[in-house]
Amino acid sequence: MSPGATVWLTGLPGAGKTTIASVLAGQLRAAGREVEVLDGDELRANLSAGLGFSRQDRDTHVRRVGFVAELLARHGVIALVPVIAPYAATRDDVRAQHDAHGTSYLEVHVATPLAECRRRDPKGLYARAAAGELTALTGVDDPYEEPDKPDLRVDTTGSDVATAAQRVLDLLIERGLA
Ligand SMILES: Nc1ncnc2c1ncn2[C@@H]1O[C@H](COP(=O)(O)OP(=O)(O)OP(=O)(O)O)[C@@H](O)[C@H]1O
Ligand SMILES: [Mg+2]
Repeated sequence: MSPGATVWLTGLPGAGKTTIASVLAGQLRAAGREVEVLDGDELRANLSAGLGFSRQDRDTHVRRVGFVAELLARHGVIALVPVIAPYAATRDDVRAQHDAHGTSYLEVHVATPLAECRRRDPKGLYARAAAGELTALTGVDDPYEEPDKPDLRVDTTGSDVATAAQRVLDLLIERGLA
């Protein structure tokens, strides 16, 4: 069985996490791998239903998703996790939980700068925050702690989705995981 892995795509809203994960999932499936995408928005509607955006709720959400990702990855699945995960200590806990089981964990910082995320605003969140209709938006009035030493950093400004996805795929290949 090919080794599984968790690939956590962390970054600001609109950075490109979901978009990259979905292209990468297609590439990995075409290569015959079992892949699951654990998307933040989708999981907030089921696994983390009822949780909000306080620090405590964000941490609970990230820990739950990390738990499920590790279970999948331990059994040969590539778990792609496009979830903001704004707090460094919580991300580190998720990595430690993977390490404890000998499960591969890669942290990819989708490091698209705030100005570009705001310009894209695919869900209209930045516009709603600017209009005072939304509070606790990560990067605006809620913290985002950038990873110090991610396994990979991808700034998607001025590059296309295929290029960004390829960089993550190259990392998986380099680590013997794809
Ligand atoms: N190189 C690129 N990589 C990824 N996305 C890109 C790129 N260039 C432009 N985009 C666009 O940026 C937007 C990223 O939106 P996406 O929903 O993937 O962000 P996200 O990081 O998942 O945000 P959220 O945390 O709100 O879910 C999309 O509209 C996508 O088409
Ligand atoms: Mg997303």
